[in-house]
Amino acid sequence: MNNPKTLTKEQLSARSAGESYQQMLDKETVPVPDSLRESTDTYLGSKNLSVDRYFSPEFQKLEEDKLWNRTWLVTCRESELAEIGSYFVYDIAKYSIVLTRTEAGEIKGYYNACLHRGRQLRKDCGTAREFKCPFHGFRWSLDGEFQGAPCEWDFPHIEKETFSLPQVQVDTWGGWIFINMDMQAESLQSYLGVLPEHFERWKPENTFKVMHVEKVIECNWKVAWEAFIESYHTVQTHPQILPYLGDSNSQYDCWGDNISRTISPMGVVSPHLENIEPDKTVNDWLEHGAWLTDGSKVAVPEGMSARKWLAEYYFKHYSEQYQTDLGSFCTQSEIMDSILYSVFPNFAPWAGFHPNLTYRMKPYGNDPEMCTMEIIVLMRYPEGAERPADCAVQKLGKDQLFSEAEGLEGGLGRVFDQDFSNLKMVQKGLHNLQSGEVVLANYQEIRIRHFHQTLDKYLSA
Ligand code: FES
Ligand SMILES: [Fe+2]
Repeated sequence: MNNPKTLTKEQLSARSAGESYQQMLDKETVPVPDSLRESTDTYLGSKNLSVDRYFSPEFQKLEEDKLWNRTWLVTCRESELAEIGSYFVYDIAKYSIVLTRTEAGEIKGYYNACLHRGRQLRKDCGTAREFKCPFHGFRWSLDGEFQGAPCEWDFPHIEKETFSLPQVQVDTWGGWIFINMDMQAESLQSYLGVLPEHFERWKPENTFKVMHVEKVIECNWKVAWEAFIESYHTVQTHPQILPYLGDSNSQYDCWGDNISRTISPMGVVSPHLENIEPDKTVNDWLEHGAWLTDGSKVAVPEGMSARKWLAEYYFKHYSEQYQTDLGSFCTQSEIMDSILYSVFPNFAPWAGFHPNLTYRMKPYGNDPEMCTMEIIVLMRYPEGAERPADCAVQKLGKDQLFSEAEGLEGGLGRVFDQDFSNLKMVQKGLHNLQSGEVVLANYQEIRIRHFHQTLDKYLSA
């Protein structure tokens, strides 16, 4: 029977020019994990999206009232709250939550407001053994219990036992701390669906932050989000990476309401190009990634594919770095492909054994036409070794380029800057779209459609 939620045979066969990602997996020489073998072939209809969701203050308000306070949101790494008393303030839309590690070693999250006259209790991050409001000095323990105030005789009406800091739900996955302001919300485990099972092999909990950049962008947070969950724009926006990116060979999957994925094979030539030799694929990649700084060129041996050459190169490099034999269990796909998952609404972790990029978008203040995007890189370290310290956050203003950030000077920064050059122009263009609607591809933009369908469920609830 024809399931309306999957693509038809005709749609499937028209879809892939050249080799599909699944056919590339057939060439792997070690067992391929089941998660990569999954292919959902989702079809969610072809309806257009109304543009007001990208700039109307009413829509932004609806998100504030029904989205950010009801979903599981990623805040910081567990390693950033390692010590008792360490705290981290997580702000999103109008909400501010302070997370802390209690005396018992638990992580708790409280609304960041003093119960006296409302002053925010904390800012940024740091360490302290109690919550003491800087205004009049009301105090709470790390467990959120009221400890006292100066001149307590003046507050006979405060019931100490119930004057505790209101909490949010807190849970962890993959070394990340999540919160949910809705105390009735489903558990994080159930919200994450297939994600924990898929990532079991990649162990994101055993990584540390080597790069964290946060940039202000002049577009709605969803415009930025959408630009990073499809590879369809590569042919026009990033032509320099086509010799080594199978953009239109990408596979797109959706699971339940909250999880989706794009896998874009790397080290293969885009189906949009012809007559590209393996030498060019390898040398362009190495040059853009600044892996070879002395300018020397590689010659790929006769009969060897660029993908195989690059995989072996990376197996060697990362096996030394992680002190493990990657070639014995890691697929070529997991050492080089772009395997990008997303968790509704705004958290997108890469998978695989290379350094893992992670994206997060947030609204900026209450302006629906501004947002911040964060790019985080997580790196593995040798098993049993002490976890290296996480790096600090670099903050970039709206007029700064990503390639100005430390660690993004090379080809990667250029790719991101190409993306950002579109975003501001999309935001402006949306106001002049006479149809009032954006049009989406059925397959390559399925994750955008999937995202909006889930968003609509929250906003109409
Ligand atoms: S507002 Fe916090 S002690 Fe007064
Ligand atoms: Fe891009």
